[in-house]
Amino acid sequence: MLDQSEALKKADEYIAAHYGEVNKLLYPNYHVAAPIGWINDPNGFCYALGKYHIFYQYYPYDSKWGPMHWGHATSDDLIHWDHQKVALAPSEPFDYSGCFSGSAIEHDNKLYLFYTGHAVIDPVKDTFKEVQAVAVSEDGINFKKLGVVIEPEEGILHFRDPKVFKDQDGLFHMIFGKCTLQNEGEIHHYTSTDLLHWTFDSVIKKMEDAAFMYECPDFFEVEQLENGKKVGSKWILATSPMGQKPNGFRRQNTSVNSWQMGDFDGHNFTVDHNLVEVDFGHDFYATQSALSADGRRILLAWMSMWRLPNMTYEHKWAGALTLPREIFIEGNHIYQRPVKEAESLRIGKPLELSSLELNCNYQTIGNSSACELLFKVDLAQSEAEQFGFALGHSLRCFVDRQNHTFTVFRTDLNATSYRAISLDEITKQSKSQVLEFRVFIDNCSVEIFINGGAYTFTSDYFGNDKTLSLYVTNGKATFEQVKLYKLDCPMAFAPFSVK
Ligand code: FRU
Repeated sequence: MLDQSEALKKADEYIAAHYGEVNKLLYPNYHVAAPIGWINDPNGFCYALGKYHIFYQYYPYDSKWGPMHWGHATSDDLIHWDHQKVALAPSEPFDYSGCFSGSAIEHDNKLYLFYTGHAVIDPVKDTFKEVQAVAVSEDGINFKKLGVVIEPEEGILHFRDPKVFKDQDGLFHMIFGKCTLQNEGEIHHYTSTDLLHWTFDSVIKKMEDAAFMYECPDFFEVEQLENGKKVGSKWILATSPMGQKPNGFRRQNTSVNSWQMGDFDGHNFTVDHNLVEVDFGHDFYATQSALSADGRRILLAWMSMWRLPNMTYEHKWAGALTLPREIFIEGNHIYQRPVKEAESLRIGKPLELSSLELNCNYQTIGNSSACELLFKVDLAQSEAEQFGFALGHSLRCFVDRQNHTFTVFRTDLNATSYRAISLDEITKQSKSQVLEFRVFIDNCSVEIFINGGAYTFTSDYFGNDKTLSLYVTNGKATFEQVKLYKLDCPMAFAPFSVK
């Protein structure tokens, strides 16, 4: 096996030699994707040593999952990212099959990465051992592995994805997912005073609805607002449960992302609200959050999905991350809005239409794979059977009067399916019949924020036709305050430089 520095050198040299071969036809214009190869979960998202850092599960050598490395990018503003050298590569007996997901934290002017070492025991029986491990860096770019900090008891398989945070008293906390010997998913909580020695503290979540594993847990405190004024704070536990069954419009994805809100006394998490999906689209998994330099809680996710046909396989890349989203709680509802820095992507003045009434018709308003679309519709004023927007023939996002839903319908070959939520749920939450949309369209993804981020849908689409139309079928509907911004494409050709 190559040692860590040889394995990293090999990966960096491969990327530098081959990233020019990536076919950019569907490659993200302003979302983070790898310079070449496959990515899944965001890892180690943090503001540390004066920069934003995002790491991600990475296999540089192919556009499909393989022994996991940690890719790395840095930014000053959460929107313009520079690709960095690969941060971690499999190299030790305990991580030889992969450096799995984890988190990062700055301490004493050093950046610590906590990750899961994954070591396959028997590939036929699908047995493996997972441990929590740590690496450290003084410059935020070059990392030295320090070894294993937490081991499971004999016979435990799923035991991964450490998220580390510090409380107000300076105590470090780590949570991660574990599948017990009874095949029940739990989230375990450890504490440490020095980041290197960890003591078991509590189980902060037990199995719910047959989840046999909670992947990529994240746990953080957010201010609770009432009409915009701070009234307290709540803890949010975001998880990616495995094994839960679909239920109506819920949990239709292969892998589901959820969160719940409650209180944390340092040991136990008391839940106020049941698990709900973080995002209702096709492609959103393994969220990870960080505090911004000015104290906002920012979250992003992997913008793709397990076990879907890999539509960009031939293009030598696969997978991207969502835009960073600011999280806030208003009343008892968790909102997500694109970070304010995303406005820096806007180029010039938008196309504006104060009111557009369509009657069984469509109107093309743009032809771009990097744009931001805003509009409002009043359900009380628009009676058509369907109204919304379409991207070529690949994607339709619409109010569906017959089914009484907002629906995102992807029509691409091999990936056809819809995701929906009921209009009643949306209007009950907002106490209004007006739906407000803010949509970020990239080369093969849409992120839809409804009513200021009360509900979001994130889905990939793979068509070449980028014609953007507003459309109405069987009746009349009015789109109000339509705005369409062209967006800059900082990630489309972001260089990879090995220093
Ligand atoms: C979630 C996940 C994690 C694991 C990683 C491996 O998508 O399965 O639990 O650490 O991906 O790439």
